[in-house]
This record gives sequence, C-alpha cells and structure tokens, in this order.
Amino acid sequence: MRKKIVAGNWKMNMNLQEGIDLAKELQEMLTAEKPNCDVVICTPFIHLASIAQFLNQDLIGLGAENCADKDKGAYTGEVSAEMVKSTGAKYVIIGHSERREYYHETPEILKEKVLLALQKGLKVIFCIGESLAEREAGKQNEVVKAELEGSVFNLTAEEFRNIVIAYEPIWAIGTGKTATAEQAEEIHAYIRSTVAERYGNEVAEQTSILYGGSCKASNAPELFAKPDIDGGLIGGASLKAADFKGIIDAWK
Ligand code: 13P
Repeated sequence: MRKKIVAGNWKMNMNLQEGIDLAKELQEMLTAEKPNCDVVICTPFIHLASIAQFLNQDLIGLGAENCADKDKGAYTGEVSAEMVKSTGAKYVIIGHSERREYYHETPEILKEKVLLALQKGLKVIFCIGESLAEREAGKQNEVVKAELEGSVFNLTAEEFRNIVIAYEPIWAIGTGKTATAEQAEEIHAYIRSTVAERYGNEVAEQTSILYGGSCKASNAPELFAKPDIDGGLIGGASLKAADFKGIIDAWK
C-alpha cells in the first residue's frame, strides 16, 4: 500500500516564534491522537533548525519549501539541499507553481534541484499543475505530463521512489476554488498512468500523489476518498493547528 500523506506548506508566513509555537501545538495534538497518515510540515528555511530540535519526526516529518539548484559556492542568498538536510529536515518541496511563476524556475532548473535534493538524501515533493487558461483549453493532461518529463522522468526507478507528486491546479491555489473530487481523481489517475508508462505499474502503484489547492477539512474527506488521491499539500489551512488537524482527520 502506498503512503497516505498530509503535508503543510507554510509558504512565506509566520516569524520564527510563531512557527515554533505552531509546530509545538500540532505535535501536542498528534501525540494525543495519533494520525492515520504520514504528516509533514514544510516551513521557511529559517524555521528548520529550531523546529528540528523538538519535533518527533516519527510523528511529523519536517521539510523545506525550496532548495538551490547549485551544490555550493558563491551563490549569495541561496540555501543548498545539503544545508536543508543538515538541519534534520527530510523533505523538500520543489517545483511549486509560485516558484515557477514568480522566480522563473524552469524545468531545467527544477531538474537540477531534484537531483541535488535526492543526492543529499531528501525526499522530494514535486509539484505540477495547470493554469486556468490551460484547463479551459483542455490542456491539463499535456501540461502535467510535460512537467514530469521536464524535471523528474530522467530519474532512475530507484531514485523516483523518493518522489511524492503534488498535483496543484494553479486556479485552485489560495482562491477558495477547489477542484471537484471527480476533476482531481481524473487527473490523478492520468498522472499515475503516466508514471506507469515510464516506470511500470509497480512503481506507479507505490507513488503517492497529493492534491493541493484550497483543500480544507470540509472538502478533504471527499477528495481523499478517491482511489488515486493519496492525501494533500495544504497551504492556508496548514497555518492553524486545528485546521490542519481537521484535514489529517479526513483519513480517520
Ligand atoms: P492553499 O491550500 O492555500 O490553496 O495552497 C495550496 C498550495 O499551494 C500548497 O502548496
């Protein structure tokens, strides 16, 4: 059985103290009531080392939201995959649409980031998803396939086992407009079939594919009930412990 995962993406929210408080609150809640899925929180770089100090990563995995496309050296302001790993973090989000759009991260750049992250022993949550215009033109399948081909289908099957895919339709991110469970299931099944074409059925069956985009406690149960939706990548609703726990509880 593949892993069920609920992962939070805090984005550029919360100062260090607020982040520490949130992680502690979540840890208390999940210690009291064990989740039925893997739980991950992906935080800004500056939170990682402090949160890693107290986080029980058997209960909540810790991840970064990005890493550099270079190994090390004179790249002012960048944070390498090795640095992320050295904090104790185990995951990194790569390819989020916000990074593709606002920071012009191309498929080639993302490919480098993925390779470095895997080399350093991180698991990668790789994001894909179409824009509203692409969805309206019926191009969503084409888009997600190209994103996989552009940055992760170069990996060996062994490497690919460390990839979690997050399907996040751009039109659903932070808009309150969720894909319907049927829309999400349709494309998740397509994504899985694409992975099967490249790596075979066994790898495809083991690959966790998360849904992201205005996922909340009220719609998570319907989404997660679909056979090809293995959990969620949560933005806004991961910023309050009770909201995030509500989504985790969808696996109960
Ligand atoms: P929201 O849950 O705020 O829509 O964000 C989704 C997302 O981008 C997670 O990476």
